[in-house]
Amino acid sequence: MALQRQLLKRVVDRASTSSRIHSPAITFLRSDYSTSSPPQLPPFDYQARPYNGPSADEVFQKRKKFLGPSLFHFYQKPLNIVEGKMQYLFDETGRRYLDAFAGIVTVSCGHCHPDILNAINEQSKLLQHATTIYLHHAIGDFAEALAAKMPGNLKVVYFVNSGSEANELAMMMARLYTGSLEMISLRNAYHGGSSNTIGLTALNTWKYPLPQGEIHHVVNPDPYRGVFGSDGSMYAKDVQDHIDYGTSGKVAGFIAETIQGVGGAVELAPGYLKSVYDIVRKAGGVCIADEVQTGFGRTGSHYWGRLKMLFLT
Ligand SMILES: Cc1ncc(COP(=O)(O)O)c(C=O)c1O
Repeated sequence: MALQRQLLKRVVDRASTSSRIHSPAITFLRSDYSTSSPPQLPPFDYQARPYNGPSADEVFQKRKKFLGPSLFHFYQKPLNIVEGKMQYLFDETGRRYLDAFAGIVTVSCGHCHPDILNAINEQSKLLQHATTIYLHHAIGDFAEALAAKMPGNLKVVYFVNSGSEANELAMMMARLYTGSLEMISLRNAYHGGSSNTIGLTALNTWKYPLPQGEIHHVVNPDPYRGVFGSDGSMYAKDVQDHIDYGTSGKVAGFIAETIQGVGGAVELAPGYLKSVYDIVRKAGGVCIADEVQTGFGRTGSHYWGRLKMLFLT
């Protein structure tokens, strides 16, 4: 509940700050918005099925009773989403919404895409699960297909259950490989909430008073709000300073999101990652690109956003 209150307070504070800004652009947007009718969704050739399940209120009450308070929502009346089709979601009344969130970009190919449903159905009819101590061609085929999308010698794949688990594994491998403990991550980063990745994460809303490990959070190279503007070399110098003054001179690794997601779609200052990767490698560390949000073609032009690293999670 404390977390929920804190988040709500932030949203309200931000809203009240922005309402005090009187730039002509914002005034124009406001007046334009208030006089024109709300935008309409384009036609879509699909009818949601009639819904006969529990009401939003019943769903909400059951969730409150049986699930922990860490499951929060931002709404006075959260939507009851009962169906999805490609880029759209439907609520219990059949009302259609454009899904601009896609489950934190995890629904990359749209909801209930027929090709994906078909592949899942066909496999489920044949074999649902077996352990990796037996052979099955699918795991090797999938790893090969992913490796074909990777540059250079990034050709070995580990399958895990979540982004946190991927970053846990990458950090553990970096530490074991280098024999150093110290990791560097960026302020405003989100790398997960598990017991080790919570240390890499640097957003107070997602941190708890637990041991955080040997982790240095360097200045965020945010080209818009950062202390050095878009000068990537100054932020890179801060990383060198941390290594020189805050460590033995050797580090295990550096991790950064290619574009920060939970911290607010923040791109990194130009040239920053290339300079930092050089600095970190000279200090014996490995470089990890957290592509949990940006990978799998989600940045548009490339399958992965950042191509010259040792680990990609
Ligand atoms: C960049 C990034 N890394 C790691 C994670 C953690 O992933 P998961 O929630 O699957 O553990 C997230 C989740 O939002 C993320 O955005």
